[in-house]
Amino acid sequence: MKKVNLGSGTTCLDDWVNIDSSFNARLAKCPRLRYLLFKIGILPKEYYEMPWSEHIHKVMVRDVRKKLPFDDESVDFIYSSHLIEHLRKDEAEKVLRECFRVLKRDGLIRLIIPDLELMARNYLKEIGEIRNNKGKKNYLPSERFLDIFGVGVERTKTPFILKIFLSGSRHRWMYDSISLTALLESCGFVDAQKRSYKEGELPDSDLLDNRPEHSLYLEARKP
Ligand SMILES: C[S@@+](CC[C@H](N)C(=O)[O-])C[C@H]1O[C@@H](n2cnc3c(N)ncnc32)[C@H](O)[C@@H]1O
Repeated sequence: MKKVNLGSGTTCLDDWVNIDSSFNARLAKCPRLRYLLFKIGILPKEYYEMPWSEHIHKVMVRDVRKKLPFDDESVDFIYSSHLIEHLRKDEAEKVLRECFRVLKRDGLIRLIIPDLELMARNYLKEIGEIRNNKGKKNYLPSERFLDIFGVGVERTKTPFILKIFLSGSRHRWMYDSISLTALLESCGFVDAQKRSYKEGELPDSDLLDNRPEHSLYLEARKP
């Protein structure tokens, strides 16, 4: 059975094909260089401490925007958590079309994304609380909301350009359940179902899922 995790980060299970293009993952193949870059201050501590070295032997370092390295209808399950919002909308569509190509008939895809609807609702709730003097003091909901889109205030010392270089961390598009379902359907998927954290039909969701506080979990099938 073939199971593929796209944009795995360091969440890599042994019996999955884990694919990630992080520069940090590439560096993990050269631990001395990685240590040196950390020591001279080029690789920030937060990136150096990511446990890539433990996982790199399980990762196929590859950009998912390229053709997926699998035959047509050869994959049983695809999992992708907090990846597609880092791609442009047209790139995400291309990746999902590739997922459709490589999945077997009746194969399942599980996508996890930051839920735009949930975030918008939280934003409105928080500004409502502030207007009613019930909100946290010295807190601007708008900053957190705008941060989601990559236009907010940078709060860490890492230069923005370096952040992009190291992890492709900027969000380029956001989805809610309606727009993600529409995107999946436009790529040929059917039966899109909203799921819960660690719940659904995809195997190992209980081991792979994270970020329950703001994620949308959606599964769909290739007919
Ligand atoms: C926010 S992290 C999510 C990691 C993990 N899936 C999780 O849920 O914790 C996004 C991951 O996608 C990877 N990524 C971003 N763009 C990519 C691309 N074009 N090809 C492959 N991986 C990519 C990044 O390197 C990063 O590890």
